[in-house]
Amino acid sequence: MRELCFLACQISLRPGDFAATFAANEASMHMNNTAQLELDGRAFPLPTTIGTEGEKAIDVSALRNNTGYITLDDGYANTGSCLSRITFIDGEQGILRYRGIPIEELAERSTFIETAFLVIYGHLPTRAELRHFSDLLTENQYLHEDMKYHFQGFPTGAHPMAMLSAMINAASCFDEGLMHWHWGMGREFEVYAARLISQVRTIAAFSYRKSRGLPLIYPKKAYKYTANFLHMMFSCPYEDYDLKPEVVRALDLIFLLHADHEQNCSTATVRMVASSQANLFASASAGVCALWGPLHGGANQAVVEMLQQIHRDGDDGSKFMAATKDKHSGKRLMGFGHRIYKNYDPRAKIIKQACDDILKTLHIADPLLEIAKKLEEAALHDSYFVERKLYPNVDFYSGIIMRAIGIPLEMFPVIFAIGRMPGWIANYREIMEDQKSRIYRPRQVYMGPTLNHFVPIEERT
Ligand code: CMC
Repeated sequence: MRELCFLACQISLRPGDFAATFAANEASMHMNNTAQLELDGRAFPLPTTIGTEGEKAIDVSALRNNTGYITLDDGYANTGSCLSRITFIDGEQGILRYRGIPIEELAERSTFIETAFLVIYGHLPTRAELRHFSDLLTENQYLHEDMKYHFQGFPTGAHPMAMLSAMINAASCFDEGLMHWHWGMGREFEVYAARLISQVRTIAAFSYRKSRGLPLIYPKKAYKYTANFLHMMFSCPYEDYDLKPEVVRALDLIFLLHADHEQNCSTATVRMVASSQANLFASASAGVCALWGPLHGGANQAVVEMLQQIHRDGDDGSKFMAATKDKHSGKRLMGFGHRIYKNYDPRAKIIKQACDDILKTLHIADPLLEIAKKLEEAALHDSYFVERKLYPNVDFYSGIIMRAIGIPLEMFPVIFAIGRMPGWIANYREIMEDQKSRIYRPRQVYMGPTLNHFVPIEERT
């Protein structure tokens, strides 16, 4: 058996090479310092890149060609896969900005649709741009009627995330233009982007109705985006759902807070698929699959299931907290921790407040909220969580809001997916617009058997 050799190498930065200032403009993204890699007794210079917020990266694109080595980075924790202009996160400070605008300002003053425009097109829309975007969403909200037969093929009780990803992909089969459209051909992107944002909401609501065996409800032209979603989820054929403005606003806020989050697992998946020049719908469908897992967008469902279990067990939270610190228990405090945030997730702060507000407005006393608050309090004072810098993330309180407004548990990750659509579209656009974009294709270090030969079946023992 071959052994993996760890050879001594050293990377050093030459501070003297730093450019004096890093103005927030395109040029600054490429101002160079040089890193020096010492490997097998030889020195290799590596260019560096500095982002507009001062984030530093060593460019290893030519590393294998020059040295024969690749970088190895489990979980990509130290790998920058792209230059991006969409979202900035400072995980140490708990800062999140879409196109430079702090999430707190957007949460207070914007709507999901306005923010979606910002994320995709890079600037806040003028009135005319917002009107146009809104009109496109309305024009594109209906699914092809034949798609209803696909919903009929799913068993009642199927998970809506499975239906969502399948149906987003299937939607591209019903769009001849999309199948033959290539980036750079005409101005269809704005139509396809609007179609995806609008139809994902219709598909999501239909998936829920199908999963419960309920009749499908069509979107109404008069309703705005989030109100329309609630209408399709909860109206009955001849009886419209009572749209409370506070409920509409609470769900709209959840969508907005999920609109983008730089290179997370699902967005990186979307970019990966897009890098092969797959179409927008196929790329987004892959994003839904990546989002589904409980470590990512499925965490909002897992948090509420965890709180329900604690409630059923009559635990005050302490038994469960002890289990989350025991590596053999297989339990984690869901809704806590983040690869990037080593501070309170700014989205969680906003959602916690929104959670208190909506429960008060609806006169709901949810015992799960009390348990969640106790868990948070305990974790923030527990050395295990403090040392590892584990704080509540966006999923810790969002499920309690969704429960309060009647959204069923299995739809929670679907809500995340609807919210994340603008971010996926913006990242898709970035890949397609980048003239230098290449297919994503990581390498590996092979650890399997060395050369071996085929043995006929009769000679095998
Ligand atoms: N409960 C208990 N221990 C935890 C938790 C948790 N929620 N999260 C991390 N740890 C521990 C982990 O066991 C490890 O301990 P040690 O150093 O002793 O081995 C240490 O903290 C570092 O954790 P990690 O797994 O290496 O961190 P990661 O960056 O790979 O994972 C995470 C990030 C979000 C997957 C993880 O924190 C987690 O599983 N959290 C719970 C699931 C969750 O809430 N996910 C939603 C994330 S926010 C929405 C989104 O963008 O996806």
